[in-house]
Amino acid sequence: MSENDFPHPETLAIQVGRPSPTSDGPLNPPISLNATLHAGGEVGYGRYGNETWSALESAIAAFESGPTLVFSSGMAAINAVFSLLPVGAVVTASDQGYSGVMNLLRGLDAAGKIEIRLVDIANTDEVLAAIPGSALLWLESPTNPSLKIVDLPKLIAAAKSHGCGVGVDNTFATPLIQQPLLMGADIVAHSLTKYLSGHSDIVLGSLSIKDPALFQRLSDARKIGGAIAGPFEAWLALRGIRTFPLRFSKAQENAAEIARRLQVHPKIAKINYPGLPENEYHLRAKSFMRGFGAVLSFTLHGGAIEAEMVCDSSRVITHATSLGGIESLWERRRRWAGESESVPESLIRLSVGCENIEDLWRDISQALEQI
Ligand SMILES: Cc1ncc(COP(=O)(O)O)c(C=O)c1O
Repeated sequence: MSENDFPHPETLAIQVGRPSPTSDGPLNPPISLNATLHAGGEVGYGRYGNETWSALESAIAAFESGPTLVFSSGMAAINAVFSLLPVGAVVTASDQGYSGVMNLLRGLDAAGKIEIRLVDIANTDEVLAAIPGSALLWLESPTNPSLKIVDLPKLIAAAKSHGCGVGVDNTFATPLIQQPLLMGADIVAHSLTKYLSGHSDIVLGSLSIKDPALFQRLSDARKIGGAIAGPFEAWLALRGIRTFPLRFSKAQENAAEIARRLQVHPKIAKINYPGLPENEYHLRAKSFMRGFGAVLSFTLHGGAIEAEMVCDSSRVITHATSLGGIESLWERRRRWAGESESVPESLIRLSVGCENIEDLWRDISQALEQI
């Protein structure tokens, strides 16, 4: 396909997931509120399929280049992947990543269902050494909340050469800056709660899967496990996708500018943002990503008390968990009991939104003045 045939992301976001045009037919898909479907069709029942999910799934599939299933949350989607693992399967994963996934893996290991090998996921040699004998390599890049960049092309290729399955949580990067299925991964997971829906008003997840047999197994896992999306949430997520490239591009531009300014701020001890040329992961990120995202984190000269004071002092940025919404959010990650102890007590994760950059900077500056 030539470049001219392929719609650019902004166009794709506007065109995908719409009903075929008919006279007086609707431009948008309906919110299909149906548990019961007339007999004789391919779907059969409301837990097996829904036309509003299908519209959303076709949109995500177009972005991730792979058939997609939507689930009731990002965690439900990831849990469906782990539910396919046979007892005793070895899973190699990050020793520091999204705490929900870490805790799910630790729980499965403690219950004797799987065996986990936790590694410094940005240390390529350490991960390469852990791959032989693993059934699944679970990757997240950039990592939450330290913004480490994982060498996706190298690790995916190595895992595949050992017959190890690879799943990538693409929530932070989004398909606008990296498409792991095109690098050879088997599964891409999203918390749709974040950038793709973008308005902090729904909780939803997805899996995009290359292999048709694996797709079918995960579709069955959703059908039987029952972690299905609500049609209204699916419709809102699709509505959010219409502006996803615009929102992401503005948020990313704001994040890069804030990172540059924070880097030279006297109250900041360390800034984690792979877009900064001084960042230890900058060259790796540049080698396969088309951007650096809109989440950053930083530590303060100070501890938990100072970080809480900063988060409590903002007026434009909301003090709350989550990320990927149109509004900027920040929080001290260690306030959560489930967060990894290797995350510094003063680390603040900032999800940069689409506000005016000078309003954001004034707010950050005055909040840092409080300590
Ligand atoms: C990287 C990442 N993956 C998965 C999840 C889980 O998604 P959800 O909250 O939609 O279940 C989150 C939530 O914060 C996340 O940050």
